[in-house]
Order: sequence, then structure tokens, then C-alpha cells
Amino acid sequence: MATSISRPESKSRTPEDGIARRLLDSAAQLSYDPLTEVDWETPLDEDFHGASPEWSTLYGTPYWEELSEAQRKALTRQEAASVASTGIWFEMILQQMVLRDIYAKDPTDDTFQWALTEIADECRHSIMFARGAKKLQAPAYRPHRVAVELGRVFKTVAFGEAAYAAILVAEEVLDVMQRDWMRDERVVPFVRTINNIHVVEESRHMKFAREETRRHLARAGRVRRQVHALLIAVASYVIVTSMVSRKVYANAGLDEERAVREAKANEHHKSMMRSSCSGLMEFLTSVGLLTRPALYFYKRADLI
Ligand SMILES: [Fe+2]
Ligand SMILES: [Fe+2]
Repeated sequence: MATSISRPESKSRTPEDGIARRLLDSAAQLSYDPLTEVDWETPLDEDFHGASPEWSTLYGTPYWEELSEAQRKALTRQEAASVASTGIWFEMILQQMVLRDIYAKDPTDDTFQWALTEIADECRHSIMFARGAKKLQAPAYRPHRVAVELGRVFKTVAFGEAAYAAILVAEEVLDVMQRDWMRDERVVPFVRTINNIHVVEESRHMKFAREETRRHLARAGRVRRQVHALLIAVASYVIVTSMVSRKVYANAGLDEERAVREAKANEHHKSMMRSSCSGLMEFLTSVGLLTRPALYFYKRADLI
């Protein structure tokens, strides 16, 4: 018979503490150590894709039709590495925002402890993405200089719903593509494992980000809501347009100019992004963050 252990500390003091308690319990039951879970030893098999080809920025373009299977695979491997590198950039930003948010708060709160757990997850994820990109034989892909500097400002000043909704956007955009890649047998096995680990652990982060966004917004006035709605939309635009570096094409042996031109006009990729973000847009609408100025940026980023 199972012994029941009394845990007086598990009594939640606030509703958000109740959510944090459940997330902590879930993390205790299912978390991964990528250093031991991912197959880092087997050499890269170039017969595999790095991502589901349908997610390639060139899929469906005339250029894609001209590529050999080997070139397509080389391209999706560079694209997957670029997404992983951009993922590290997001995670650096969000770790700092979460750490700033809990500064000097009550360490006995479940919310405080959950926030540190999330930071620890992200720290492991970033190491995992870094190793993954290296194993995909990719160079260091960094966002455009302007994006790097905007990120530097944002992570230093963003607070409340602006911070948590931006975190949510980055996590949601990654989530849908990674769900496809983790199930796809055309994708190289170690990348599938990386995506599986990320999807499982990020589902808890997204729950927390939604709750924190709602909670902060409940106390926000009209002006603050308007300003933050726009700020979140601009952040989303920067996040989405930074996902795949333009350098991936040359590194996969393609003509960079032509590839960038066709990728920018790729309606297939735009519709993949739109359909994957429908749940996110529903959430932003439900909390009143899809204002008219914000909508302009979501449309420009092809998220809606
Ligand atoms: Fe992560
Ligand atoms: Fe996360």
C-alpha cells in the first residue's frame, strides 16, 4: 500500500502558486538530462534531414524543385541548426527576464521555485541546442545585429505581461515545428530526441507563461495594455524573422541571393506559420493583446 506523506508546504497560498505546485510536481515526474538522453556519439548520418522538409523555408518554391535530395537534406540540417541557435538566443533573454521577475521575492513560494526550475530547464536546453547545432556541422548562427541589440534592451526593461507574452510567443512558435520534427522518421534521430525533450519540458513553460500573462494583465490599465500589446507584437516580429539565418543557404551550398528571394515569397511557408500560430493568436485575442497596431506586426510576420 502506498504511504501517504503529509506535505504541509504543498498548500498553495495563491491560485498562481497552485499552478506552480502542479508544474513542480510534473517536472519532478518527467524531466530529462540531455547530456545522457541524446545520442551524441553516433556520427552524423547525412542521409537524414535536420527538420521536416515541409518546414523548410524553400519547400514549395521553384528553387526547391531544382535541388537534389542530398541538397535538400543539407539545407534542412542547416535550418534546424539555425532554429536551435536562435532558440539559445531566446532562452538567454527569457532566463534573464524570469530571473529579474523573481528577484527578492519569497523563496518559499512555489511560484519562485517553479521559476528557478524553468531557468534550469532552459539552461540545459541551451547546452543541448548548442551541441545539436555543432553536431549538425553548422557554424554559430546569430540573429541580425539589430535584433541582437533590440533583444538586449528588451531583456533589460521588459516586465509583467510584456515579458511573459514574448516568452510565450517564442515558445509557441518553436513548439509546433518541433512537434512535427520529433515524429518525423526522415529527421536524424538525435534531432528528434532533442525536439522531444524540448516539447515535453516547454509545455510546462507555456502553461506558466499563459498564467503569468493573464495575471499581470488583470492588474494592467488601458494605456499599459495598449503599449505592451504593441511591444509584444514587435518582439514577435523580431523573433519570427530571426528564426532562420540567411547564411544557412550558402552553408548548404545554395545561391544565397536567390534562396532569400524565393524564401521571402514562399506562400507555403507562410501558411505553415499561420496555421501553427492559430492557438497563440486565439490566446492573445482572449486576453486583449491583439490590438489593431499589434495586428499589423503579426500580419507582417505572417503569424495571422
Ligand atoms: Fe527551452
Ligand atoms: Fe521555455
